[in-house]
Amino acid sequence: MEEAFIDTSYMRYYIIKDKRVLRDSYIPDSLPGREEQIFRFSQIMADLLSDQPPNDVSFVGKPGTGKTAVVKHVTKKFKEEYPKLRAKFVYVNCSQATTAYRVLYQLNRSLQVLVPPSGYPFDVLRDKFVDAYSSSNVRLVVILDEVDLLVKRDGGRLIYMLNRLNYDLPQNLSISMVVISNTIDFLERLDPRTRSSFEPDRLIFPPYNQPQLYRILRQRADLGLKLGTWEDEALQFIAAKVAQESGDARRAIDILRMAAEIAENERSDRLTVRHAEMALQSVNEEEVAITIRTLPLHHRLIMLAITDLLEKREARPGTGRIYEEYKKRANRYGVTPLTMRRVSGILRELEAQGLVEIQMDYGGARGNTKVVRRMALPPKLMKELLRNLGIR
Ligand SMILES: Nc1ncnc2c1ncn2[C@@H]1O[C@H](COP(=O)(O)OP(=O)(O)OP(=O)(O)O)[C@@H](O)[C@H]1O
Ligand SMILES: [Mg+2]
Repeated sequence: MEEAFIDTSYMRYYIIKDKRVLRDSYIPDSLPGREEQIFRFSQIMADLLSDQPPNDVSFVGKPGTGKTAVVKHVTKKFKEEYPKLRAKFVYVNCSQATTAYRVLYQLNRSLQVLVPPSGYPFDVLRDKFVDAYSSSNVRLVVILDEVDLLVKRDGGRLIYMLNRLNYDLPQNLSISMVVISNTIDFLERLDPRTRSSFEPDRLIFPPYNQPQLYRILRQRADLGLKLGTWEDEALQFIAAKVAQESGDARRAIDILRMAAEIAENERSDRLTVRHAEMALQSVNEEEVAITIRTLPLHHRLIMLAITDLLEKREARPGTGRIYEEYKKRANRYGVTPLTMRRVSGILRELEAQGLVEIQMDYGGARGNTKVVRRMALPPKLMKELLRNLGIR
């Protein structure tokens, strides 16, 4: 008999029941911890039930706080429960449609108007949209997800334009907007003209706390993993860790998926805390590796200097020590060292990227100094990542 190309004994899952459930694109039927946001958003949209134009809404919250999930959940419910509603929800992801043109292109398409994806004058695109919409018979709710980049580019021109259209539309038509962003000060960044005419109701999405993350993970485990194959402590562990560092549900779910995969690869019949720990470590490593790869040379050399100092057990090296070590490495690389001032600035950048933790040491031998308390990974691992990039 010929040897099988694939060893099928590896194809059986012991723990995973439904892989889909552990993916980012999966949106469950209920969203633990977001009851209030769902309630408030539904209340605002409920104006559609009495054929009134709903207020504009802005969703604000850090990554993984359920903004996209809530907007999709609620609009889906409206479509299901009120199929005859005189309303249309149009969802646009602005991280894909990063220009006003691209967004208008999609709005046109949603009204079955086909225009070229580029090359038309903006005003022509707008007029086509206005014509098509004016001859329709539904209230429009335009959802602009991840709107930050779009606003950065056009200062809110598109929001202004859509908003102003309401002044010219007949009574039975209206355009409401749901704008979703990562940055708290997003509304303040709109140009003054847009800001004074656009006043959405604000919905805040705070980072998830530990009990909320636990409920989110529990739901995924119940739906995606086989009964009795996971330790509750593993979920508690992930919830606690993620609550501490970010409150990002996406990250928590990623770690759970990774833990399940690690357990499967070990051919273990139970997902335990140890698997969760390994998953956390490997997700961290992956993220740090990605970040380090984007760093310019001098940033990497500074990282190397810190790594070497910490490896030699120099606890909490200060800016001065780091600078000395960095200079040696820069010279070894044949590049002119940057100034102390610049290196100090780079340390702040590295901190903002979560690669190092900086602390002020008050009243030490040399007065107040900035010291590195620790790095995102143990020095040994960090060194390996840097070595992979040719930095040694
Ligand atoms: N309350 C929740 N219950 C269950 N799953 C959730 C919940 N909140 C978020 N998730 C899941 O976590 C992941 C991230 O959520 P979502 O995409 O809604 O975050 P976001 O706030 O839109 O983040 P970003 O700002 O990065 O776009 C998704 O897979 C989503 O299904
Ligand atoms: Mg989102």
